[in-house]
Amino acid sequence: MDADIGLIGLGVMGANLALNIAEKGHRIAVFNRTTSKTHAFVEAAGDLADRIVPCETLEELAAAIRPPRPVIIMVQAGDAVDDQIAALRPVLAANDIIIDAGNANFHDTRRRFGELADSGLTFIGMGVSGGAEGARHGPSIMVGGTQESYDRVSDVLTAISAKFEGTPCCAYLGSDGAGHFVKTIHNGIEYGDMQMIAEIYGVFRDGMGLQAAQIAPYFAAWNQGPLESYLIEISAAVLDATDPETGSPMVDMILDRAGQKGTGRWSAIEAQTLGIPATTIEAAVSARALSSMKDERLAAAGVYAHGPEPVALGDALVADLEQALIAAKIAAYAQGFAVLSAASDEYGWDLPMSTIAEVWREGCIIRSRFLNAMSQAFAADPTPENLLVAPEFAKLMKEALPALRRTVALGATSGLPMPALSAALAYVNQYTQGRGTANLLQAQRDFFGEHGFERIDREGGGFHGPWVQGA
Ligand code: ATR
Repeated sequence: MDADIGLIGLGVMGANLALNIAEKGHRIAVFNRTTSKTHAFVEAAGDLADRIVPCETLEELAAAIRPPRPVIIMVQAGDAVDDQIAALRPVLAANDIIIDAGNANFHDTRRRFGELADSGLTFIGMGVSGGAEGARHGPSIMVGGTQESYDRVSDVLTAISAKFEGTPCCAYLGSDGAGHFVKTIHNGIEYGDMQMIAEIYGVFRDGMGLQAAQIAPYFAAWNQGPLESYLIEISAAVLDATDPETGSPMVDMILDRAGQKGTGRWSAIEAQTLGIPATTIEAAVSARALSSMKDERLAAAGVYAHGPEPVALGDALVADLEQALIAAKIAAYAQGFAVLSAASDEYGWDLPMSTIAEVWREGCIIRSRFLNAMSQAFAADPTPENLLVAPEFAKLMKEALPALRRTVALGATSGLPMPALSAALAYVNQYTQGRGTANLLQAQRDFFGEHGFERIDREGGGFHGPWVQGA
């Protein structure tokens, strides 16, 4: 009974998280449904093995941990989590804490939190980002549950998390599903970032006709400036890599069909449910879906038989592409934070926006220089109407917006698809248009459905146009 913590599920993420915990000096009891994996894990743990207690049953796991027991579940999201919670309940005791660290849908987390509320057990739903490498050496950790339960495990969680200039990228964000919701929106933003980078890659590859290795230096150079981020960095590395089997650029040997596990889609669904436009994120989710329709796209390419118009490489264009990415990125983050803000109101989480930007600064996939500035913007004004009007970002946007306009215009005229970049531009255009065109929508609605409208010159609503009988 001397382990500090337990962990169930020794898949890629669970195994790396367990090693990270052991490396930080904590004794950890581990269990995996398939026992052979548990033993293989301990055998491969090297020096850390003496801090790992392999368990073949959940009873053994519970007996190995010092009460009150924190137990991390890191199994496939969905039914497996419910199965594990059900199996754990009889072997745990009051005050023990079950921590679901998988990619749960936050609705499930809210339900589980409620189901365990009267059990004496405490439930934490925890978003973990950073992939296998992050789990092993320092992920970004987004915690939902109760402050009291977080306080009881914060030592170990902050120890294993990434650090930004010494500050742990781990925080308590709100009750029940808050942590998993923030992780979901993180992933939606990640989809947006990745898609926008891929669209710019398309300008270089299909517009300018450059080879992958010729494109890499542009991304590497951008990684020294305002766009400095993990995703720009790895894009440069990917473009520079050669396939050892064929000697061709590795990226050219990869089928252009993107996979997705669902969290990006959840972010678009939740944005729609909350009535918050997250058009860049939605465009990125749709772009993945369209990418997966490879056969249909090949057939359609045959029907239309048009390639993109050539685009001339030039310093001005390259500078535009960098600025376009900056502008579109601000728009995507503005959307993501707007969804967080609406969800915070809807679910009563009181999400700390500045802290969220802080825990994303290191460890997670969207880590970037930008996020430090965002955390400062939210620290100065925790509830701006939208990041687009936070002074520093409004300034950056005004500087970069003309380049985004030119880039999207170039995409339109040359036939290069830019779903995420153009959605970002349309969002900024509409968000900053004081007088929009919805007056015509309201007139149409009144015309066909007598829905009524508000007038600019009178208080109240329910006015009708002359097209409605008796108006
Ligand atoms: P990864 O982290 O590797 O991406 P994952 O697919 O999210 O993994 O989760 C894999 C882990 O979930 C494994 O530990 C798996 O156990 P097995 O090694 O026995 O397959 C665990 N897992 C999946 N379904 C489970 C279930 N119904 N009950 C318990 N554990 C389950």
